[in-house]
Amino acid sequence: MGNILTKKKRLNMAFQLMPKDLYCYFDLFCDHGLLGLHMRENSLAQVFFNDKRGALLREINEKYGIGEEHLLDCPAENISFPSSSGLFLLGVGGILMAEVLKSWHERSQLHPDQYFVLGPNYYEFHLRQTLKELNFQLIKRSFVWEKGQGYELFLVRWQEDCDQELWQNFDHEFWRGCLGEDPHAETYLRQKYKSWLKKRQISEVERAYKEEMGTFLDQLVKKAPAT
Ligand SMILES: C[S@@+](CC[C@H](N)C(=O)[O-])C[C@H]1O[C@@H](n2cnc3c(N)ncnc32)[C@H](O)[C@@H]1O
Repeated sequence: MGNILTKKKRLNMAFQLMPKDLYCYFDLFCDHGLLGLHMRENSLAQVFFNDKRGALLREINEKYGIGEEHLLDCPAENISFPSSSGLFLLGVGGILMAEVLKSWHERSQLHPDQYFVLGPNYYEFHLRQTLKELNFQLIKRSFVWEKGQGYELFLVRWQEDCDQELWQNFDHEFWRGCLGEDPHAETYLRQKYKSWLKKRQISEVERAYKEEMGTFLDQLVKKAPAT
C-alpha cells in the first residue's frame, strides 16, 4: 500500500469511503493530485485527474508520468464519465459542488452505478439541499477534523427516484456517534451553529435544521458532568 496520504486525514477518509471495484476514478478539483496519485499507488483501475488550471495538471504529469489521456484540463462541470465511475469532489465550497452536480444532471451524465464522495469546505447545507433536489441517495457519511477545521464527507449515488428527507434533517444519531469518536465534532457543530445565528435570511428548512442543532448542543451541556 502506498503512503502518499500519510497525515492527510481528510483525503484518507474520503478514499476509505469509496468502493474499490469500479471501472475508473476521477480526482476532481485535484490541485496537488495527492488523492489521484494515492489511487494509482493502490492500483485502482484507471485514474483521471481534473483541474481547471491546466498548468497544475501538466506539472503532475511531468513529475509522475500520468499520461495526457488521463488529464482533464477543463471545468469539472464539463467532464463526461462512464457508468461504474467513482468521483471525488473535495476541497471546494458546497455551492460550486452543487453547480457541478446540476450540470451533470442536465447533461444526463448521472447513473445509479456511479459513486461520489463529496467533501465540501463550507456551504455543506446548500449542497445537501441540491442532493435532495437531484435525488441523490446517502450511502455513508463521515466526519473528520484536520488542522483546526471540521469536514463532513458524504458517499452518495444518484437514483431515478429517491426523495430523502435526511438531507434536510439534523442527524442526532450520526453526530452522537461522531462525538464518541472525536470530541472535535462538538467544536465543529458549535462553530456551525454560531454561523447559522449570524445568517440574516433563513428559510423554513434552515430554521428547522438550526433549531434541531441547537437542541442537540443544549443536551450536550445538560449531560456534561458538573466540574
Ligand atoms: C483547494 S484545491 C482542492 C484540492 C484537493 N481536491 C483537496 O481537497 O485537497 C481546489 C482546486 O479546485 C480547482 N477548481 C476550482 N474550480 C474548479 C472547476 N470549476 N473545475 C475544476 N477545477 C476547479 C482549483 O484550480 C484548485 O486547484
